[in-house]
Amino acid sequence: MADKVVLAYSGGLDTSVAIKWIKEKYGFDVITLTIDVGNSKDFEAACQKALKVGAIKAIVIDAKEMFVKYFIFPALQANALYEGQYPLATALSRPLMAKLLVDTALAEGATTVAHGCTGKGNDQVRFDVGVHALAPQLKVIAPAREWGMTREETIAYAAKHNIPVPITRKSPYSIDECLWGKSAECGILEDPWTEPPDDAWTWTKSPDKAPNKPAYVEISFEKGIPISLDGETMGGVSLIQKMNELAGLHGIGRIDHIENRLVGIKSRETYEAPAAVVLLQAHQALEAMTLSKDQLRFKQKAAIEIADIIYNGLWFSALNRDLSAYIQSSQRFVTGTVRVKLFKGNSMVVGRKSPKSLYNLSLATYDRGDKFDQSAAAGFIHLWGLPVTTQAQIQLLSDIDDPMRLIAPKQKQLKKRAKKKGSKG
Ligand code: ARG
Repeated sequence: MADKVVLAYSGGLDTSVAIKWIKEKYGFDVITLTIDVGNSKDFEAACQKALKVGAIKAIVIDAKEMFVKYFIFPALQANALYEGQYPLATALSRPLMAKLLVDTALAEGATTVAHGCTGKGNDQVRFDVGVHALAPQLKVIAPAREWGMTREETIAYAAKHNIPVPITRKSPYSIDECLWGKSAECGILEDPWTEPPDDAWTWTKSPDKAPNKPAYVEISFEKGIPISLDGETMGGVSLIQKMNELAGLHGIGRIDHIENRLVGIKSRETYEAPAAVVLLQAHQALEAMTLSKDQLRFKQKAAIEIADIIYNGLWFSALNRDLSAYIQSSQRFVTGTVRVKLFKGNSMVVGRKSPKSLYNLSLATYDRGDKFDQSAAAGFIHLWGLPVTTQAQIQLLSDIDDPMRLIAPKQKQLKKRAKKKGSKG
């Protein structure tokens, strides 16, 4: 009996060709696994095609809920943004896919899993490391990394083997989509000086064609997780889908990123992530109300670390588990509502409230009801500035090499002035 392989199957050209190619090259029986992470796709048609090309079984898993609960929301709570720009949509979906590949392989008695990644990207790393971490006994094959065919050759291979190539005019870009965002690369986008053409954007309206009237949306969070829009409670999947639509309509969520891939390449990619952009902004606004200054500072460092972990394919590492425990703890009081204004490509937080808010009006106000003890400020400032004044007197004011000497009055002048004053008074 032939070995079985579970292939992560999108229904596109590469993974369709992979079904035939694996059979030819390895002699394995191919089971395809198509995973719904919120990519608008005809999953039924994809399965039909897989079977037609020669798969012995075609499985579809709706993983949207799992994706939101275990991957997207934890990343949102962490404010994970790779290089300060990319909300990590694809990068978050790959470890989930790796897990489902492993589950399916074990259930089907397969020895091997396969994916359609090339050898130039980050996704191969995320798949390979994910699978190896979860089930070291499984082998991983990556046909598109091995076969060395150009795009033309892949199409020729498909034609030769009667594999249907999509007849719809193919997008000139390489696209990946999931609930948390869409990425586009290749084609004219490879020229970093060229502005992304209109057809590079499909999730968002051009800001100049967006409605002339702003929209407001109130997002409520519980422990750092968004639970309702404008007072209407909804599940995470619907909430994200709704936010994508609403913010996309107002031209929000376009990102043009020169990014550093793990494999050493700088690449230009564009992203559309309307929901991610707005929710990350709203979440941070609520944290600003409910976390202390020190918590906020520390959490920013953790966010950079976590974004790198996700991007670099280390989701299943112990460090990610450790940091995620910290993030969960940090969210205990991140509960409340944020009002966001959406207008012509821009989202702006214009209101926030929380039952656990640390914002204290009687401390902040300049009006009546001020409870802040201003007389305590002088003593505080004296001690706060003590190291600076001490060092200035002993070292800096008399140092001719001190770069600030042009600004600081010379000691001599100070003495002169003191004398003058004395003689006058
Ligand atoms: N550059 C992004 C990342 O590394 C997006 C990758 C999109 N993947 C794809 N197969 N088109 O996460």
